[in-house]
Amino acid sequence: MSTIFVDGILKGRVVFVTGGGTGITGGVARALAEAGANVALVSRSLEHLEPAAKAINEARVRSLSVSQGNSAENPSFGEAFAITADVRKPEDIEKAIAATVDRFGKIDIVVNGAAGNFLCKAEELSPNGFGTVVDIDLKGTFNVCRAAFDQLKQNRGQILNISATLHYLGTPMQLHVSAAKAGVDALTRNLAVEWGRYGIRVNAIAPGPIGDTEGMKRLVPEPIKEKLKQRIPLGRFGLIEDIENAAVFLCSDAANYINGAVLVVDGGHWLAANRLI
Ligand code: NAP
Ligand code: COA
Repeated sequence: MSTIFVDGILKGRVVFVTGGGTGITGGVARALAEAGANVALVSRSLEHLEPAAKAINEARVRSLSVSQGNSAENPSFGEAFAITADVRKPEDIEKAIAATVDRFGKIDIVVNGAAGNFLCKAEELSPNGFGTVVDIDLKGTFNVCRAAFDQLKQNRGQILNISATLHYLGTPMQLHVSAAKAGVDALTRNLAVEWGRYGIRVNAIAPGPIGDTEGMKRLVPEPIKEKLKQRIPLGRFGLIEDIENAAVFLCSDAANYINGAVLVVDGGHWLAANRLI
């Protein structure tokens, strides 16, 4: 595995990552571990979390055998462990936060990646369909930030929310997620202001369409994939690695004065999305 960052730039940090077993946020968790952080992977299903934690821990062992300057006691690749919790249940999250502190001693960084999505016309969306997505994406993000606050305050930590660009324009069949992610952006900016005074940085990444992810499978039917790709100024779908790199940067000391930012990582897609030519 190779990284474009200096070895161990997040060494010593502890990260609590919701949605950290799969897809984009699974990649982010692995990249943060590769940068040296210990990571707690949190979601509903151990079937998602355990293979992801195992892959990180195996890569850690491999990095020990190839690295020169890192002893077994002081490796540059972080460790992972899996905890089941539903972000909709504050008591689950409080237990997961406590389990992470028990295991790794503290929490410095929270990554809120847990989300739910499906395509549905607004007029066909049930109250529970709308509410379920808002409960996971927006209220879940709040539940995690709230439960982690004491740790983040103590450690002058940071929050990285995974948002989207859907709500920048009116995206059909995405009313529920657009509403939820608009809320996530509001929460990002508001907490940046309120918690900045404790030294807590709060930022977000807004990915565009990222190839080979559950989100793409659910949202972009195969026949329109090519058309969508042609509308992206950089001419390709995003890679999970593109989001990983943005996340490592925002979580590193290189971003020490960045607070309240929503970093769009979409190849210029949303800016061009409403243009016919
Ligand atoms: P994904 O792999 O399905 O990630 C969603 C994760 O959320 C899963 O790991 C899932 O794990 C977890 N999750 C769902 N409900 C949960 C709950 N109630 N409590 C705890 N964890 C829960 O999808 P993805 O496409 O990589 O998306 C990752 C993030 O990127 C999301 O925030 C999404 O909105 C955002 N995003 C994606 C794209 C894209 O192109 N894919 C574009 C823009 C934004 P469990 O099933 O184990 O709970
Ligand atoms: N179209 C319309 N409504 C839908 C739907 C769809 N495709 N899928 C679910 N819903 C509605 C359900 O009908 C239900 O509403 P109702 O009680 O009025 O019928 C409501 O949403 C909740 O569904 P349920 O299946 O009970 O929710 P859940 O908590 O088990 O799962 C989801 C949450 C629906 C978001 C599920 O898709 C999920 O777990 N997603 C995680 C992975 C993901 O979405 N990844 C992509 C991230 S970008």
